[in-house]
Amino acid sequence: MNIIKVKNYEEMSRVAADIIAETIKAHPTGVLGLATGSTPIGTYQNLVNMYRDGKLDFSGLRTVNLDEYRGLPRENDQSYYYFMHKNLFDSVNLKKDASNLPDGSNPDADAECVRYEKLVESLGYADLQLLGIGRNGHIGFNEPADVFEVNTHCVKLTQSTIDANKRFFASEADVPREAYTMGIGTIMKARKVLILASGKDKAWAVKNSFFGPVTPNVPASILQFHQDVVVVADEDAMSEV
Ligand code: GLP
Repeated sequence: MNIIKVKNYEEMSRVAADIIAETIKAHPTGVLGLATGSTPIGTYQNLVNMYRDGKLDFSGLRTVNLDEYRGLPRENDQSYYYFMHKNLFDSVNLKKDASNLPDGSNPDADAECVRYEKLVESLGYADLQLLGIGRNGHIGFNEPADVFEVNTHCVKLTQSTIDANKRFFASEADVPREAYTMGIGTIMKARKVLILASGKDKAWAVKNSFFGPVTPNVPASILQFHQDVVVVADEDAMSEV
């Protein structure tokens, strides 16, 4: 595990974009695993700038996103589909049908999870999977649990996650209660994992994920078993280490 401590959000975003750019250059027709949340927004801005400067080409890539809220149609401005188009896809030369997310509008959870897992498998899994981290150590929407869920599955969000994400919705009642997410096994099959953390409210998660025992109660702790993980965390996120 390679832990890079940076000063702040801006430096984290630059370092993360450089690592992703290296992967894109090494695998121009590869598979990029992407994440949502406020953490990767700065990283995506840096990638868009590199593309505009002619330093990066997305035209051969395919992308797979970690997760999506169940019950939100694509056009809802809180869907992860909408987020990815707004923050990255619409600003780079990724081909139209090259991006993939779970379909939150499919009410058949079992069918949707099987479809998405098969799709990621058929693409050969991610060359690099980008991750944020929840305050409770969740990755994607793999919430603390008694076991590690292996494949794409439907989860009930914890109150901690609903509280953290309600800032994006009109009210707490509007936050979806369920999501489709890649499983821990889907994430662990990525050849490289890049996980980002910024801010004091991630300090508990950073300490317990990367400096504590591996346990499904802290889902990100499983990454200690992955052979190529880069953690980029800022001073606030590292403050309890
Ligand atoms: C959400 C997402 C995660 C994300 C996490 C942290 O629930 N499903 O993929 O990493 O929360 O979000 P943020 O970056 O906004 O702190």
